[in-house]
Amino acid sequence: MIFDDLRAIQLRHGFLPKAELEGLSQRSQTPLYQIHSVASFYPHFHLVPPPRADVRVCADMSCHLNGAGELRTDLERRFANSKPQDIQIRDVSCLGRCDHAPAISVNDRIFADVTASHAEQLVRSAIRGETIHDEHPAEARVVCKADPYPDSEKYGVVRKLVQTKTWDDVLGQLKSSELRGLGGAGFPTSMKWDLVRKEPDPVKYVVCNADESEPGTIKDRFIMTHLPHLLVEGMIIAGLVTGAKRGILYIRHEYHLQEEILGEEIRRCYRAGLLGKSILGTPLGFDLEIFVSPGGYICGEETALIEAIEGHRAEPRNKPPFPVQAGLWQKPTVLNNVETFINVPQILARGVEWYAAQGANGSRGLKFVGVSGHVARPGIFEVPMGITMREVLFDHAGGIRGGRALKAFAPSGPSSGYLPASVVDVRLDFKSLAEAGSMLGSGAIVACDDTTCMLDMALNAVRFYRNESCGKCVPCRVGSQKMTDMLFRWTQSALPEAQYRADLALLDELSQAMALTSICGLGQIVPAPIQSVLKHFRAEVDAHVLKGQCPSGICATPATRAGEAQRVGIRP
Ligand SMILES: Cc1cc2nc3c(=O)[nH]c(=O)nc-3n(C[C@H](O)[C@H](O)[C@H](O)COP(=O)(O)O)c2cc1C
Ligand code: SF4
Ligand code: FES
Repeated sequence: MIFDDLRAIQLRHGFLPKAELEGLSQRSQTPLYQIHSVASFYPHFHLVPPPRADVRVCADMSCHLNGAGELRTDLERRFANSKPQDIQIRDVSCLGRCDHAPAISVNDRIFADVTASHAEQLVRSAIRGETIHDEHPAEARVVCKADPYPDSEKYGVVRKLVQTKTWDDVLGQLKSSELRGLGGAGFPTSMKWDLVRKEPDPVKYVVCNADESEPGTIKDRFIMTHLPHLLVEGMIIAGLVTGAKRGILYIRHEYHLQEEILGEEIRRCYRAGLLGKSILGTPLGFDLEIFVSPGGYICGEETALIEAIEGHRAEPRNKPPFPVQAGLWQKPTVLNNVETFINVPQILARGVEWYAAQGANGSRGLKFVGVSGHVARPGIFEVPMGITMREVLFDHAGGIRGGRALKAFAPSGPSSGYLPASVVDVRLDFKSLAEAGSMLGSGAIVACDDTTCMLDMALNAVRFYRNESCGKCVPCRVGSQKMTDMLFRWTQSALPEAQYRADLALLDELSQAMALTSICGLGQIVPAPIQSVLKHFRAEVDAHVLKGQCPSGICATPATRAGEAQRVGIRP
């Protein structure tokens, strides 16, 4: 409950006054240092009064490619003479609006497709003390191929299962479908559910990971908007099959609209008897609630997410034990991504053969991908698993904006690194992308046109991880900072060749140490963006470091130094 209390205090005061935290400590019999350690961990909580206009500009991949740096520079110029108690302008990590970049937040309200004059208006009204409201563009429901119930009664699989109780058959079908986790790691879903089912503990949980906070990742936002019933049904099925009686849907706090949509869906299910102690009058029960994340990319790591639900700092646990054995409150826990859950009712309602036939080029199933960056039509697309990246970028997302050429793309945000345009015919599936030296990840495709500086993009990605490192383990905490410092230095001026060689050797050593010794996937993946850029765009890096030249005119040119450049590199 600690987050609800902290949110209530922040809502009343705009920040967390010391006296209120002391009061909370007494009421909840929790030592003050514990409350403080939690409140100071999450960037969403303010320990000191914020300025009247707390402006945060997303500087991550998709926003950076769409002018976030220039927007921030422009805003800083417009408010250069303002008092610090009136306005503060800072970076913020991806706000989940990558298809409408650049995105900013003003007093925790999110705005997308922002121009400097729009942002200035918002800031001026915040400084006048007016309340700022979110923009919720109404979204018409999109009919998706993934929905087995476009016109028929929803929750057909649950209705049937509570009568037949064929749990082994469900696991058998999931196994034959070869469904793998779609949150990034690709773990076989049937195996995860089977492990939890076999645990003898009578108390078990189902948790949905709807935290998606990696730059470029927006597909779960779309799924929760348009297919909320499939997500709820997938979670109920997980509960029935594994014996868990309680589910928690963990959603990032920037997704207010999706929280409302899912809240409404859950209430509808309770009214219809599909949730609760007795599902459709049977002795089978499953309760489902929403937990709003206190914020931060690390909360998406499954054990950090569990720590956050338990009211702690979101620091990943050492594994093993894995959540299937000791997850939420040390109980066996099924934890899956939104898209993984919605695949389950599809498979069970229409059969494994139908599911297999949806994929292309030998792959199975459908995939939701978010496409952002320099494409003409950024957005979320439902495509057959296994189609080529060229089809996604050019047929679905309209190709590269302004008739420019594709230079590179990240198949799944910073963690996948960057691939050159020459491999655009790679297929969108686990195996093909792994063979190309990348990964399917969460399907967060970010396209870069031929004006992009790839060293700048590597620095952008590495600094995202530095910002989001939870700091629990040294290799990640110190290594991500060292790597950011090194790449920033490379963007700034030429170095002697011997120094460059020494840097490259250190980078390799650091990458190995981080991959081998970091506690969680965040620290292990930090080197991926720069390693991919060194592999595919080495000449560009050499030009920076050996000649002091940015071929794209973005990094540390005389114009950028003088603040006159049209395009600016990422600030570390
Ligand atoms: C730093 C970090 C962030 C992550 N963020 C997410 C996320 O936002 N959503 C998600 O489903 N998985 C995320 N994952 C992966 C989860 O730890 C976990 O593997 C996944 O939720 C399991 O679900 P699945 O098997 O259905 O993919 C993240 C992993 C790491 C290391
Ligand atoms: S690898 Fe990084 S994010 Fe993960 S536990 Fe260690 S410090 Fe935290
Ligand atoms: S909202 Fe800026 S990168 Fe996602």
